[in-house]
Amino acid sequence: MKSKRSEIINAFKAANGKAISGEELGKELGISRTMVCKYIKGLKDDGYEISSAPKKGYVLKSVPKLLYPEEILSGLKTTLFGKNIHYYDEAGSSNDIAKKLAPTAEEGTIVVVEQQTGGRGRLGRQWASPKGGIWFSTILKPRIALSAASRLTLTFGLSVAKTMRQYGFDAKIKWPNDVLVNGKKVTGILTEVDAEIDTVEFVVIGIGINANMSLKDIPEELRENSTTLRDEGGKSIDRVEFLQKLLFEMEQEYIRFSTRPFSEIMEEIIALSDTIGKEVTVNMPNRIVEGTVVGISKTGALLLKKADGEIEEIIAGRCMY
Ligand code: BTN
Repeated sequence: MKSKRSEIINAFKAANGKAISGEELGKELGISRTMVCKYIKGLKDDGYEISSAPKKGYVLKSVPKLLYPEEILSGLKTTLFGKNIHYYDEAGSSNDIAKKLAPTAEEGTIVVVEQQTGGRGRLGRQWASPKGGIWFSTILKPRIALSAASRLTLTFGLSVAKTMRQYGFDAKIKWPNDVLVNGKKVTGILTEVDAEIDTVEFVVIGIGINANMSLKDIPEELRENSTTLRDEGGKSIDRVEFLQKLLFEMEQEYIRFSTRPFSEIMEEIIALSDTIGKEVTVNMPNRIVEGTVVGISKTGALLLKKADGEIEEIIAGRCMY
């Protein structure tokens, strides 16, 4: 059910710059004028610019540049992804919140945080998450084996790259979980799974996008060949619109993931791969291997040609080049 607050925002947007009186709003929403005043005050406190003229009513002048659920929901073209949104101005890590919510949450629920104070990357690393980025986690309940979960990371990497391409960025996928623009990292994906041996209970897909910020906002020790969309594009993007488009792409890929052979998605990932052909070092928990990447298998494994000519299939690891 829509909240009264979103109903007021929607009524303002439908009025398209024309004034609406408190009485009209009250009638439309089935609440008193005093309640209307309270909601308007709340919206103003949250950065909505609303003017009021005696006898005419209220006009919405501008909306804040924040990832408020009401803004994401208005114009969202998905049926599952992002239909439930948990929003935080500041929190530790969206993945941690999502993992707590997951057992009872509906599939597709997302957790959005404007600024993470304990953002986490893969392999226990820190993830800088200042204001201006897009830091969010999606809760999924796919019917897959644990061994197939890493394919979701690749799949959503494709969704991120495709969304960025709509904005004219030359986005490529660095196996297994990064998206690069002009050869530098703009996005990392942290997939966390709760599973029994053969069934996955839930998956949390945490996506971090360096959007409207500059590299200077990331501590020097965490920059590591990174960039931001604003630094690469020379201007800020509309984060609400970007997230709406990304959720749509994610939903499309998830449907494909659930209904089609994975090789279909892999073909597109391979076409946008930055890693194929590169000389790489891959760190795995028990060893390190070096070689040339000659391909990615239909199941998403890296195909590495080593110095002795042997081709090794690597399912998971940290790839450096
Ligand atoms: C990596 O490249 O190491 C993965 C980075 C993932 C960062 C995102 S931001 C949203 C979500 N919450 C977290 O704490 N981490 C992920």
